[in-house]
Amino acid sequence: MRLVLLGPPGAGKGTQAQEISKRLGVPHISTGDMFREAIKAGTELGRQAEQYLRGGLLVPDAVTVGLVQERLGKADCSNGYLLDGFPRTVAQAEELTSWLESRQEGLDAVINIEVPAEELLVRLTGRRVCSQCGATYHIRYNRPSGDKCDQCNGELKQRSDDTEAVVSKRLEVYRKQTAPLLAYYRKNGLLKEVDGTRDITEVTRAIGQLLGQDWQ
Ligand code: AP5
Ligand code: MG
Ligand code: ZN
Repeated sequence: MRLVLLGPPGAGKGTQAQEISKRLGVPHISTGDMFREAIKAGTELGRQAEQYLRGGLLVPDAVTVGLVQERLGKADCSNGYLLDGFPRTVAQAEELTSWLESRQEGLDAVINIEVPAEELLVRLTGRRVCSQCGATYHIRYNRPSGDKCDQCNGELKQRSDDTEAVVSKRLEVYRKQTAPLLAYYRKNGLLKEVDGTRDITEVTRAIGQLLGQDWQ
């Protein structure tokens, strides 16, 4: 299955993607994670992306589209994938559509996770991420059992763009540049919407239902 997860910063795209990709057996492709890894590794891509992530702005489309096309061309994507955080502008969505068409492929669904803005701030400022495996927690909603990662015992950190000032910039960028994608995918009949305010496991189950899967 080829899927896109849409939603504002903090809606739960990464949290749901971890679970869904396991259940469907397809890779979870997060452009945000790819940029953060490149920054950590000090590559040329990381150097290009760093200032944008720090300021809560989008990395230019030309950089992002090239990165995604290269990733989607890899062998592990031949049975599908789950895109998280891409596309994020109408131009990126158009590039993805024409790239898929050139391969006689298409998306199966675009799932929009809906969460109101006031809740997003609480989610993002309370988020903690494992510095080793990337597992995501929340100091109130999804607590680790101790102060280390439950999966790998790695150290838990706050993302540098999860400060209140950068979060408000990210939300503004979402409204201006990413929200128009909802109309784009509604028009071509791919958009499915899910209420993201429920418990994490309930949201997963609801997404499963939209995809015709019975996930208990
Ligand atoms: P990216 O990493 O994609 O960040 P984002 O879109 O801002 O989304 P987040 O990762 O912050 O939120 P999420 O929806 O994944 O939420 P999560 O599951 O963690 O992008 C970062 C940056 O990279 C961008 O600003 C940009 O600079 C660049 N970039 C990336 N893609 C790009 C592109 N295509 N083009 C250009 N630039 C790009 O959950 C959040 C918190 O809530 C967690 O603590 C979690 O535990 C908790 N939570 C999750 N679900 C629930 C629930 N149901 N109930 C209660 N708590 C919950
Ligand atoms: Mg994420
Ligand atoms: Zn970990």
